[in-house]
Amino acid sequence: MSETFFSQDRSFRHLAIIMDGNGRWAERRGLTRSEGHKAGVESIRQIVRAACEWRIPWLTLYAFSSENWNRPRKEIELLMALPEAYFKEELDYCIKNHIRIRVVGRQDRLPFHVRKILDNVVCQTRHNEGLQLVFALSYGGRGEIVDAAKRLMLDAEAGVIEREALDEKTFTSYLDDPEMPDVDLLIRTGGESRVSNFLLWQSAYAELYLTALMWPDFEREDLAQALRSFTTRERRFGKTSAQAPTRPLGKDLC
Ligand code: IPE
Ligand code: IPE
Ligand code: MG
Repeated sequence: MSETFFSQDRSFRHLAIIMDGNGRWAERRGLTRSEGHKAGVESIRQIVRAACEWRIPWLTLYAFSSENWNRPRKEIELLMALPEAYFKEELDYCIKNHIRIRVVGRQDRLPFHVRKILDNVVCQTRHNEGLQLVFALSYGGRGEIVDAAKRLMLDAEAGVIEREALDEKTFTSYLDDPEMPDVDLLIRTGGESRVSNFLLWQSAYAELYLTALMWPDFEREDLAQALRSFTTRERRFGKTSAQAPTRPLGKDLC
């Protein structure tokens, strides 16, 4: 993978991943689901490093959905211990490599110890301009849109925004992270073909890449393969093939 590819190709800004399959990965090996989630953290480590080296501007990882609150309490507790484990190992790497950590989702539902860690890593990295690494935690796309609508209504009631001034760009500014660009490539591991309430607004025109690999088995080379697949796609955005620009940089990929 050419290291400069993504810094040259300004049309690729945002990679998003639904990291699915930790539980099945573990069960197939006679391990506990907890061990599957731990193995999943190791994959996060590898993929974040690759994204950073390959100069991907934004990476959003679906780590815990609003629907995941319906899992057994024990599993939730275990999943809530993972941010601390991850950042204990990786915060130094993130700081050294100018990675900015961001979070989307309903953080008020997260346990205090998780919020404390997230506040700390977000704050420590807030001026970094390298990889923008977003963790979607306690996140649901519909919830995000409803929250945005509530914030918008408050501004409308206060006279800050007029109904006529509302357009898609303005609405985007009310979402959890107003700076988040549209998703270019959405990867889902774990073999399912659904979006599971992930980045519904931002993925309106995302290219999809579905793989049967379970998340703990997803490695750098698999990411490279997904990115190569992206470079072969013709993104027409509703236009005809003749109107759509050809992808100029695909040849740079090895
Ligand atoms: C993804 O793996 C991690 C989270 C949803 C938190 P799963 O835990 O959903 O694993 P499977 O889909 O049961 O294999
Ligand atoms: C999606 O995986 C959520 C995350 C990866 C965090 P799930 O395993 O929760 O999704 P469903 O239940 O298969 O749709
Ligand atoms: Mg799953």
